[in-house]
Amino acid sequence: MQHSKIVGLGHHVPEKVITNAYLSSIMDTSNEWIMERTGISERRWVDPAKDTVANMAAKASRIALERAGLKEKDIEFIVFATITPDYFFPGSGVLLQRELGLESIGALDIRNACSGFIYALSVADQFIKSGMYKTILVVGAEIQSTAIDLSTRGRNTAVIFADGAGAAILQPSDKPGILSTHLHSDGRFAEELYVRDPGSSRPREERQPEQILDTTHYKVVMNGNQVFKHAVVRFMEVIKEALAANHMTKEDISLLVPHQANLRISQYIQEKMELSPEKVYNNIMRYGNTTAASIPIAMSEAWAEGKIKENDVICLAAFGSGFTWASALIRW
Ligand code: UT7
Repeated sequence: MQHSKIVGLGHHVPEKVITNAYLSSIMDTSNEWIMERTGISERRWVDPAKDTVANMAAKASRIALERAGLKEKDIEFIVFATITPDYFFPGSGVLLQRELGLESIGALDIRNACSGFIYALSVADQFIKSGMYKTILVVGAEIQSTAIDLSTRGRNTAVIFADGAGAAILQPSDKPGILSTHLHSDGRFAEELYVRDPGSSRPREERQPEQILDTTHYKVVMNGNQVFKHAVVRFMEVIKEALAANHMTKEDISLLVPHQANLRISQYIQEKMELSPEKVYNNIMRYGNTTAASIPIAMSEAWAEGKIKENDVICLAAFGSGFTWASALIRW
């Protein structure tokens, strides 16, 4: 059977560094609160005059292509994970296709929030395994800073969510590469972490231009405690599911790259699973929570730092809005 493997990784984060001190100067929060509850000390925000989700994705993709020894024209399909597309429609996949100067290749958008990159990777893995495509670009990219509520009312999300892009190139391989992917959702919890508007299922009078500035538009609503409690359970469940499916144990994991939701969540998983700290990669301290971009940014950084080597077993795991959760086990 044909398998797929990651042949190149890249990431791009905006230049502008937003410190906890800056956030404390514009809303009622503090460095101590943010560090203690989330582990984040700074994050990156775009310059909306020049950055778009698609052009950040293109920068990350070009790095991944270069590391893979490939050119733009080699890409046969794009899978783009984002919940913050440049337009309400079309998705950012086609905009990335345009940015990369590609003509007519297919581009698919995935809207599974923090689990989006693993869902995207799984889709690409199936396309390669089936023989449909030979080179697929898988991207996670977000611009969240332009919509978050920067008043004290929005402080539980404003200090967490941030911007960035990460990319991976998948190609066929005789040996697996991607050993397995595991995808889950539970829509009963959809409203525990969501942006309600501009949603379509609203009476016409609630959808008029004067309503655009009302409090529900683009406002991230998060029941942080509930999300946290479900996250720690589901993260561990889906990691164990991936290990069991491959007849492996936690000792086989060379590096766990969790979605960067909250440093406390990563540390909880690391302790409960009795993994040594160096086996869990974290960069939320510097980038905040970049939703679908967080795993490819973390993987790309870990690879660049020499923390992912040939034959290593890499475990990816994510949990977020939906609720959705997912894992992937990869032999490098
Ligand atoms: O990536 C997608 C998935 N998302 C997650 O996994 C996020 C999971 N949840 C979390 O990370 C945490 O729940 C948060 C970091 C969001 C919040 O931490 P918490 O320890 O659960 O705090 P809390 O929501 O229980 O709030 C405690 C207090 C509240 O004040 P009172 O009611 O006790 O007076 C909040 O109003 O902290 C207050 N608070 C803040 N204070 C200072 C909330 N946000 C802030 C803030 N600065 N930024």
